[in-house]
Amino acid sequence: MPIEKGAAIQPAAGKLGVLTPGMGAVTTTFIAGVEAVRRGLAKPIGSLTQMGTVRLGKRTDNRSPQIQDFVPLAALDELVFGGWDIFADNVYEAAVHAGVLEPKLLEALRGPLEAIRPMPGVFEQRYVPRLRATQAKQGRNKMDLAEQLMDDIAQFRERSGASRLVMVWCGSTETFQKAGVVHSSLQNFECWLQKSDPEIAPSQIYAYAALKSGVPFANGAPNLTVDTAALQELARERQVPIAGKDYKTGQTFMKTLIAPGLKSRLLGVSGWFSSNILGNRDGEVLDDPEAHKTKEESKLSALEQILQPELYPELYSNMYHKVRIHYYPPRGDNKEGWDNVDIFGWLGYPMQIKIDFLCRDSILAAPLVLDLALFLDLAQRAGMHGIQEWLSFYFKSPMTAPGLYPEHDVFIQLMKLKNTLRWLRGEDLITHLGLEYYD
Ligand SMILES: NC(=O)c1ccc[n+]([C@@H]2O[C@H](COP(=O)([O-])OP(=O)(O)OC[C@H]3O[C@@H](n4cnc5c(N)ncnc54)[C@H](O)[C@@H]3O)[C@@H](O)[C@H]2O)c1
Repeated sequence: MPIEKGAAIQPAAGKLGVLTPGMGAVTTTFIAGVEAVRRGLAKPIGSLTQMGTVRLGKRTDNRSPQIQDFVPLAALDELVFGGWDIFADNVYEAAVHAGVLEPKLLEALRGPLEAIRPMPGVFEQRYVPRLRATQAKQGRNKMDLAEQLMDDIAQFRERSGASRLVMVWCGSTETFQKAGVVHSSLQNFECWLQKSDPEIAPSQIYAYAALKSGVPFANGAPNLTVDTAALQELARERQVPIAGKDYKTGQTFMKTLIAPGLKSRLLGVSGWFSSNILGNRDGEVLDDPEAHKTKEESKLSALEQILQPELYPELYSNMYHKVRIHYYPPRGDNKEGWDNVDIFGWLGYPMQIKIDFLCRDSILAAPLVLDLALFLDLAQRAGMHGIQEWLSFYFKSPMTAPGLYPEHDVFIQLMKLKNTLRWLRGEDLITHLGLEYYD
């Protein structure tokens, strides 16, 4: 983070355009939610930027401003929306299809939602085998597709009058992919874009187009996307912030609440079995084994990294961890996540914890999209670029500098986020030492 403590931050003047590749359940719940909050029809529950506070100075100082009053964030009234999808439904139609929000609420917002139509997406069947595109861009090669996206971005900027843009990936989970030679440097990546290398996924083409256009990019799916040397080089070169990956919502969010607590009391874990049923389009996409593998890898890593079996071998090195995701259409977006946790305590005596989280996937994800859009824009105006580790709070698989292990503990992540805000505003960081109260 090559900025000085308390350095000047550009003001949030003018409109902020939020571009979302993928305009399905999460995006439509996010946009409809912002429109509802603007009209006073609902509250932005779950959004740190809208409802959170940050303590400053000593506990005796009684200074805990709202985050939105402490750092200069774009106001909800200044947001404008655009995006791409491989289906032509406008945001109202897509929200009805997603079935997350009540018809009555959607009806009240019909005008503004109908006005947002997705631009045709960049799509490649092998990356999302379960979907058949009805509107997709055609091009001479993948570089040509990237250039078409850059044109879309420039035209959206013009049309909407936005003074700044951010892009937040809300598209489907792509099939499992590891970084290869094509991703090893920007030069290689650009060369293979021209040659339409099959290793370059659509999400990488969007990210490339965003970064080339100076637009910050956040990755809400577990896709490889900006987790590559090539696109990180581009982010540094263009001085653009990036963040990822995979929104930390339902079951993994619960894991990151519970696992640090068990570890703090040195309680052992012998097994953690997690099963999910969900019936939305995301569930249908994840029903494909290769897309499922991408999600599973992302879900598995959090627990291992929180429990640190290398430091506590007697407690966690023999843990059996299994994650299952089942597509079950009757549930729609209302996922159910079960966890059975086998733990052991004093003298090795076994105990069990059962969790049954009846959650709503997109209701949990929508405020994260809002916060990421606003914080990425803040980061850009504060001169921060490259990987924004302070936004780990929002992700299942937080991106870090090479060689650093990611911090998954949600409370440490929140402390890191708030300390970053304090740093940006030149306030003292909070260590929680607290000895001064007893002098
Ligand atoms: N909802 C959550 O709690 C949650 C949590 C973590 C991650 N995610 C991820 O967020 C993403 C969105 O979830 P969702 O529930 O909205 O899914 P969704 O299936 O409702 O929406 C995804 C949309 O992306 C579109 N799409 C696919 N490939 C595209 C491309 N190349 N270009 C443009 N559009 C494309 C699809 O047509 C679809 O409309 C998924 O990858 C999901 O895994 C969601």
